[in-house]
Amino acid sequence: MSGSLARVVVRNWSGSRCSMSAVVWSLVGFLLFLHLYSLVSHNGGKDGEIQFHSSHHPLIRELEEVEEENIQIPPPRGKRSPRAAKRRPKRTTTLIDEFLDENSLLRHVFFPGMKSAIDPMNDAGNNTLYYYPGRIWLDTEGNPIQAHGGGILYDEISKTYYWYGEYKDGPTYHAHKKGAARVDIIGVGCYSSKDLWTWKNEGIVLAAEETNETHDLHKSNVLERPKVIYNDRTGKYVMWMHIDDANYTKAAVGIAVSDSPTGPFDYLHSKRPHGFESRDMTMFRDDDGVAYLIYSSEDNSELHIGPLTEDYLDVTDVMRRILVGQHREAPALFKHQGTYYMITSGCTGWAPNEALAHAAESIMGPWETMGNPCIGGNKMFRLTTFFAQSTFVVPLSGLPGSFIFMADRWNPADLRDSRYVWLPLVVGGPADRPLEFNFGFPVWSRVSIYWHKKWRLPSVWRV
Ligand SMILES: *[C@@H]1O[C@H](CO)[C@@H](O)[C@H](O)[C@H]1NC(C)=O
Ligand SMILES: *[C@@H]1O[C@H](CO)[C@@H](O)[C@H](O)[C@H]1NC(C)=O
Ligand SMILES: *[C@@H]1O[C@H](CO)[C@@H](O)[C@H](O)[C@H]1NC(C)=O
Repeated sequence: MSGSLARVVVRNWSGSRCSMSAVVWSLVGFLLFLHLYSLVSHNGGKDGEIQFHSSHHPLIRELEEVEEENIQIPPPRGKRSPRAAKRRPKRTTTLIDEFLDENSLLRHVFFPGMKSAIDPMNDAGNNTLYYYPGRIWLDTEGNPIQAHGGGILYDEISKTYYWYGEYKDGPTYHAHKKGAARVDIIGVGCYSSKDLWTWKNEGIVLAAEETNETHDLHKSNVLERPKVIYNDRTGKYVMWMHIDDANYTKAAVGIAVSDSPTGPFDYLHSKRPHGFESRDMTMFRDDDGVAYLIYSSEDNSELHIGPLTEDYLDVTDVMRRILVGQHREAPALFKHQGTYYMITSGCTGWAPNEALAHAAESIMGPWETMGNPCIGGNKMFRLTTFFAQSTFVVPLSGLPGSFIFMADRWNPADLRDSRYVWLPLVVGGPADRPLEFNFGFPVWSRVSIYWHKKWRLPSVWRV
């Protein structure tokens, strides 16, 4: 990034040779200064400690506590599930094998039962507003929340949060031998909340099509990662989602629209944006009201990003390829102090993998990859995004630099029982890995996602 900045400055000054060399030398001096500064600030903290702690508000300090997670892998047993056996035929058992093994003795660690469910309506008082990543989470009617691959809209009009996601409360099966585990489309679930903890079921706001087999929303197809944004100009709530057939060959986006955040949404159509394949996707609405579609394309080898039309119902002709050749999916975008950030996952189906954080000065790129943002837990937790996959990042108004990272802990044996992993995400401090063009000093702030068994938002946030 700084390389391109230097080039621009030099071009503007190229009229005079003398002033050009002055600019080059002052730039060299500036870079040296920054480098020294970064060395000095690095020495400020002990090894492995998170730096620039003091720059953070005391309110969020408890979010940044580093919690370890000790999990003992049980001794190998005779029979393993075919899924786990196929994955690692000879090597020793890992936590990932245990995670994928439906009969694992550790199942309760990853998928604890109903007894420990988060139940806002029947809370003994000592658990109020606490998130327990991975536990069953009940709505105000006592049913497990069904909003997988979801996203959150804050509606300024009703001063309410709406959580939209895949309603997957049906049987998991394989459409054919080589097909991925799936649940028929039921629709997009919607839940409302004022505190981001107590969620009321607003019903299915976009429902599957039961009979018309040629319809995109026919139950035999795929609807994933629905995201809703509000358009000030038209007063409409606009939903974009990944639409596919059971074999993931359609690779399109679907668009639906509603006058109310709680629907019903009218399904308009699907399309391949800019003429390209589109699978995992997300939306981002910038401060200036321009909204963007970001999607995995070219066999998931790269992401594409482009602005939408003013009514948010279509893409424009403008598109950039980003993270080319990096094979990332499950994008989740957010913005802090004018810089754009994104969390992505690798492409390993329902199996968890390592998250990466990316940053950009312009949303259209170039985007640079910063490294794995996960902190705490244990090594296996960090290498698997806490056994989950990114889906959205919620900004916390009034707490700049603090966000909620939303992820899905997929349960391929029973997808409806997939869990939500919500954790604090904090932007601050230098990047954790030197970048390609940065002359050895950190350009981007570090993005950190902190593991917690149990946590809640800071007191200013508890209404
Ligand atoms: C709440 O606290 C009581 C008393 O300490 C304890 O028995 C109970 O298990 C706690 N509830 C939960 C859900 O942890
Ligand atoms: C079935 O869906 C297709 C695609 O949306 C539509 O063109 C067609 O009119 C529908 N058929 C019926 C009978 O509703
Ligand atoms: C999906 O793939 C299977 C096996 O390759 C094939 O039998 C089936 O017809 C395909 N379905 C669609 C909707 O393309």
